[in-house]
Amino acid sequence: MNNILEMRNITKAFGGVQALTNVHLEVAEGEIHALMGENGAGKSTLMNILTGVVPMDAGKIVFDKKTYVHPTIRQMEAAGIAFVHQEINVINDLMVYENIFLNREIQNKWHVLEKKRMIRETEELFERLGVKIDPMQMVSELKTSEKQLLEICRSLHANAKLLILDEPTTALSNEEISHLFGILKKMKQEGTSFIFISHKMPEIFEIADRYTVFRNGWFVSSGPISETTPQKMTTDMIGVEYAEKDVYHPRKLGDIVLRLNRLSGHGFSDVDLEVRKGEIVAFTGLAGCGASELMQTMFGVLPIENGFVEVAGKRINGRIYQFMRNRVAMLPSNRKENSVIPDMTILENMQIAEHRLSRKKPVIFRREEEKKYEELKEMLHIKAEDPDAPINSLSGGNQQKVFLAKWLNTDADVLLFDNPTQGVDVGAKAEIYQLILEFAEEGKTVLINTLEIPEIKKVSDRCVVFYEGRVAKVFEHEEIDEKTVMMYSTNAVKAAGGNKNGK
Ligand SMILES: Nc1ncnc2c1ncn2[C@@H]1O[C@H](COP(=O)(O)OP(=O)(O)OP(=O)(O)O)[C@@H](O)[C@H]1O
Ligand SMILES: [Mg+2]
Repeated sequence: MNNILEMRNITKAFGGVQALTNVHLEVAEGEIHALMGENGAGKSTLMNILTGVVPMDAGKIVFDKKTYVHPTIRQMEAAGIAFVHQEINVINDLMVYENIFLNREIQNKWHVLEKKRMIRETEELFERLGVKIDPMQMVSELKTSEKQLLEICRSLHANAKLLILDEPTTALSNEEISHLFGILKKMKQEGTSFIFISHKMPEIFEIADRYTVFRNGWFVSSGPISETTPQKMTTDMIGVEYAEKDVYHPRKLGDIVLRLNRLSGHGFSDVDLEVRKGEIVAFTGLAGCGASELMQTMFGVLPIENGFVEVAGKRINGRIYQFMRNRVAMLPSNRKENSVIPDMTILENMQIAEHRLSRKKPVIFRREEEKKYEELKEMLHIKAEDPDAPINSLSGGNQQKVFLAKWLNTDADVLLFDNPTQGVDVGAKAEIYQLILEFAEEGKTVLINTLEIPEIKKVSDRCVVFYEGRVAKVFEHEEIDEKTVMMYSTNAVKAAGGNKNGK
């Protein structure tokens, strides 16, 4: 098969950071090519080079038989490359259809925008792709998953020959992912090529035809997916044999520190839950199941509509600051929208929650903060050089670790983690879960909302499954099993006329 893309001997440094050294990448026509590597391996950088976003120091690109050494964004777009960035990039102040046609607006011969036609084409595009979004809605009103879908649709609309998807599924539910994969497979048959980046191994083995692995900015391996295994690929990524360790162990739990009593809010109702000191509880369910909204309500981001939340025996009914004062912390889902403050440095992004809490103290001790930063950086293995560098100079997974650090830094007793391992590589995921267990051992209480059931099994004492805003089932650690949890998430249990195992 012909190659649509060849990137040869690509080298790139950012100041003193060598992001890529002499790497290559070949993508065949009509294939889905997985680009793999740990956080900071250089994947997004290579894609930024390919699309003219950042210049390369050395190397060359051959795309669709043309050679490029200093490609520009316009040139690569015109050549037929579309890029779905790692971070959601839609414009909130525009309508959905305006985002689809951004920089490609249809005008009539008097240069007047053909609004009706653009709306109709957007409708047709959504219809074809099975996406249920109103073209006239403001983007700011969309849910995160809808924004991610919109971004993907915008690239599909460009009719590209090569489509780059840099972690396209971090904000999507499992149904949305399988729907997306259906679309990709169809487009692949029609001849479109894809570069697909993801840290979710099962996804890669489901969708990709071939793969390339980088480690620390170097090329490591490449080949057909059918000739490797998740185990082998992980070893290529991290450089040593990867052994999945079972870190979970039962612990003695303390008194009840968190109590939800018939709690109702946006998208969920009548949730009763008691969590003990030192306990790890996971929430899971399909998109719209209410678990994320519940977590946001437990931190004052969304209002309580009914019932109450008690932390350490005290009812809390206020906004975020109230919860923070009562030693609750929350890492929100969707980093770019809810966490990253782009104009600030790594250190500032990390310290901001702590500053809010200690705002009555007049002085900020820079040296102490740096010490704390170094500690957390070491603990979470954050790949960063200078604490004063902008947060955006870190790779996606390393930014995520900074936000984890930000909340650990507040010394809260109750940690609410919504989708905490988004964009985090396999090895780092395991490390984060190990840390969560250590925190629990020290008496912290941790709630995690995630779709990844194998991860739940790894750390949690209990798993609460939500279905349409209500608790469908609570599993004890030994009972957690992917199939059974899925049954309750999808309400298949009811459909099958009750669960025969009595679980
Ligand atoms: N604008 C920049 N300024 C300085 N350093 C940068 C910049 N962009 C990337 N880097 C550095 O280049 C290296 C590679 O980063 P890159 O974003 O390509 O990693 P990645 O493989 O996409 O990782 P992830 O899986 O976490 O997204 C990292 O060390 C990162 O800090
Ligand atoms: Mg990246």
